[in-house]
Amino acid sequence: MKLKFTLLIFVLMMAAACSSRKGVPYTEPLQTREQEVLQGKVLYDRYCNTCHPGGSSGLGPALNNKPLPGFLIRYQIRHGLGVMPAFSKEVIPPEDSKKIVAYMKAVRKLD
Ligand code: HEC
Repeated sequence: MKLKFTLLIFVLMMAAACSSRKGVPYTEPLQTREQEVLQGKVLYDRYCNTCHPGGSSGLGPALNNKPLPGFLIRYQIRHGLGVMPAFSKEVIPPEDSKKIVAYMKAVRKLD
């Protein structure tokens, strides 16, 4: 119970922190993690693009217009929700879901 509350506060703080950075380009992390981002794109195109084309909405909702925190995306990948399937560790290992998150953060359009 206490953990859930802590998580909720964390999510709210992340959302607040991200929205105040609207319009600020994420150039630095992009440069330092470029390889990770490129590998993330390959994985994203393979597993996610059918329903979230280019990060926009398709069968699934748009992912590039909100500051979803990484742990939440990784949770969603592992557990799925509604129509979205769960991807097991055998299909998308943790290091690959981190790359997918890095790519998703790189293609965000927050304004
Ligand atoms: C078969 C189609 C499908 C595939 C493939 C798919 N998704 Fe989804 N995704 C959905 C749908 C539908 C939802 C909305 C689920 C709901 O709210 O019931 C969703 C929701 C999400 C959300 C939550 C969005 C929000 O606004 O809270 C995230 C994050 C997400 N998907 C990431 C991914 C990632 C990353 C992949 C690839 C590993 C992926 N999805 C693959 C259909 C898909």
